[in-house]
Amino acid sequence: MDKDFTNEEKNGFYKAIFSRRDVRSRFTSKTIDEQVLTRILNAAHHAPSVGFSQPWNFILIKDQKTKKRIKESFDEEMKRSSQLVDEPKRSQYLSFKLEGILDSPVNICVTYDPTRFGPFVIGKSSIPETGIYSVCCAVQNLWLAARTEGLGLGWVSILSNEVLKEILELPDHVVPVAYLCLGYVEEFSLKPDLETAGWLPRLDLKDVVYYEKWEEKQNSDWNEIEKLIKSNLDYA
Ligand SMILES: Cc1cc2nc3c(=O)[nH]c(=O)nc-3n(C[C@H](O)[C@H](O)[C@H](O)COP(=O)(O)O)c2cc1C
Repeated sequence: MDKDFTNEEKNGFYKAIFSRRDVRSRFTSKTIDEQVLTRILNAAHHAPSVGFSQPWNFILIKDQKTKKRIKESFDEEMKRSSQLVDEPKRSQYLSFKLEGILDSPVNICVTYDPTRFGPFVIGKSSIPETGIYSVCCAVQNLWLAARTEGLGLGWVSILSNEVLKEILELPDHVVPVAYLCLGYVEEFSLKPDLETAGWLPRLDLKDVVYYEKWEEKQNSDWNEIEKLIKSNLDYA
């Protein structure tokens, strides 16, 4: 395979990254083509994983009865979590649409199996969390592939993992990592919904990059990139 990307390929890659959104509403009823869904799942399956352990599974869900039970868990967790924040933030939080479980044609639960190819997995013995990190890499591949195929995807984490495990009949040792809602959408917003709503701002790149050690924001060996980062290249 050619080792370099053409400019057009690079543009396509960055377009997927910068125009990907978490989508919770405005799903359309258009069914997802099986070939498209297979391509997206295959992209997820080609993510990096610690020791090549590929510890993921993808449970595809379209049964409305299953979705309704999962939506009930969302409603309960939403109510419970709203008690953790004071007014006026509580009302604002409760006004957000934070899931598309019933509105999207396909839900996907991405799980982590810590026993996959174990017990010895290269790279996992010092940092066991690398197993979960690998599953998150798969989710990101899936999210970007979905965007590339024109499909919106929303990650729902306001759920009880215990309830999810029971509904989806997961074995005890398997961990649900991501519950995803997938479907065609009317449009992709330019900015995250939570940014538009004024909940939180996007941080400047310069505030999250340090040089050589924690909180070192200036370092003469990094002058050039520091200047570029300060100019805050923004795609959108
Ligand atoms: C681990 C994880 C959990 C998330 N859980 C939820 C959720 O429960 N409900 C929701 O509406 N969005 C959820 N999101 C989406 C984030 O709110 C969203 O990614 C963020 O606001 C930035 O917006 P963007 O993805 O459109 O760039 C989650 C994202 C991640 C990575």
